[in-house]
Amino acid sequence: MYKSKLPKLNNCNVGIIGLGYVGLPLALKIANQKQCLVTQKKTNRKVIGYDIDKIRIEELNRGIDKKNIFSKKIINDTKNIIFTHKMHTLMRSEVFIITVPTPINIKNEPDLYFLKEASKIVGECIKGQNYKGRNPIIIYESTVYPGVTEEICVPLIEQISGKKYNCEKYTNSFYLGYSPERINPGDLKKTIDSITKVTSGCNKYIANWIDSFYKSFISAGTFKASNIKVAEAAKIIENTQRDINIALVNELSILFKKLNINTNEVLDAANTKWNFQRYSPGLVGGHCIGVDPYYLTFKAKEIGLNTKLISAGRSINDYMHEYFFEQVLTKLKKREKTLKYEDILLLGLSYKSNCGDIRNSQLISLVKNIQKKKMKITIVDPLVNKKEVFNEIGLESLDIIPKLKKYSVIIFALYHKEFEKLGVRELSKISQKNTIIFDLTNKLSGENVFNL
Ligand SMILES: NC(=O)c1ccc[n+]([C@@H]2O[C@H](COP(=O)([O-])OP(=O)(O)OC[C@H]3O[C@@H](n4cnc5c(N)ncnc54)[C@H](O)[C@@H]3O)[C@@H](O)[C@H]2O)c1
Repeated sequence: MYKSKLPKLNNCNVGIIGLGYVGLPLALKIANQKQCLVTQKKTNRKVIGYDIDKIRIEELNRGIDKKNIFSKKIINDTKNIIFTHKMHTLMRSEVFIITVPTPINIKNEPDLYFLKEASKIVGECIKGQNYKGRNPIIIYESTVYPGVTEEICVPLIEQISGKKYNCEKYTNSFYLGYSPERINPGDLKKTIDSITKVTSGCNKYIANWIDSFYKSFISAGTFKASNIKVAEAAKIIENTQRDINIALVNELSILFKKLNINTNEVLDAANTKWNFQRYSPGLVGGHCIGVDPYYLTFKAKEIGLNTKLISAGRSINDYMHEYFFEQVLTKLKKREKTLKYEDILLLGLSYKSNCGDIRNSQLISLVKNIQKKKMKITIVDPLVNKKEVFNEIGLESLDIIPKLKKYSVIIFALYHKEFEKLGVRELSKISQKNTIIFDLTNKLSGENVFNL
């Protein structure tokens, strides 16, 4: 029998720290789940959505999600939830879930600033609290390399709260788990509800509690990892594997271009083998695939291991926007006499289709290279935040394509649903006779259409 008292599974106050792409869907999901999916018992959890960004909180309190994932109606209709930037409100929580960013710095090394700050906030919140004898549970969802949760976050919480970690006999303790988020922003099928949740805890009782907690609202169910490090490592290798697979096909596409072989045709042919896995060449960006492998290489380096394959994958994928721009310049050079001016139209700016996130978008890097060459560019992306774009590149992003212009280069970069109706015929209306169309989405075909 476990001696420590734990928060009541179906009736606890849950604080979500960081209300971004990961935290907000989670907060709304927990608040809206009225019945435990396993026991069918009624749940009555209160969710305290906490973020240090006051503007985000003020918007959410008006039902506005600037990330364009949730409608005003969904947010406003959600009961049992408070959005706050005040720590004393967060203090009412006895379960804390941390969903803050884990980016990389300029040297491509993990930047754990947000995670450390969030841990300190939790430490402050649980300091001196008795919780009617129940010990609080803290769950990390942010992506990290194995060891961060227990070796970096726990000491900070212990130091600030004065409580002991994972101490069953000690009434003044706190417990911890790690459960990575695996959502795919912009993908309406892969939502929080439909992805198996990997869970873990600092001991088997806490692991069971955390596993039951997620099982109670995630219909896809859970997978209980044997310990926290396993769960941390599982998340980071998912994205590392994807990065390497894309890097391989990117490298092959560079080779095949030089050999004058069509990469897509090669992939079509190879894909007829039962165990061939098809990946398409492309620009890897964003907050996960382009970042997470660096967390792993950092940890490896720390223990004296040089992870050559992972690093090679990263450097190939990081180079792709430059390679792509070289392709554009080469094609333009061949045709410059027949084109009137070098005005480029870029369709899509975020890091992936159907998502407005511009963080680490290689299209942003592409635009910066275009700007360095002093070429004119028109950007159309209805999903991005215009202010963020302006701060990043000093240019406006338009919602729709200006009709009266004729572009010499069109880069069809993302397949946002707003662009789904665009085909070669539609693009020809804004093209000159010899306009070059670069299709990074593999959706177009035609004489003047080129792929990576
Ligand atoms: N975005 C994704 O698709 C995705 C998918 C799986 C995992 N992840 C991981 O989840 C984590 C969160 O990513 P995200 O995309 O939701 O980030 P995000 O930038 O969209 O949101 C993070 C939020 O945390 C807030 N924040 C920062 N420091 C804080 C603090 N000390 N206290 C309270 N709030 C704070 C920010 O203001 C922001 O609103 C990262 O580790 C990421 O790698 C992201």
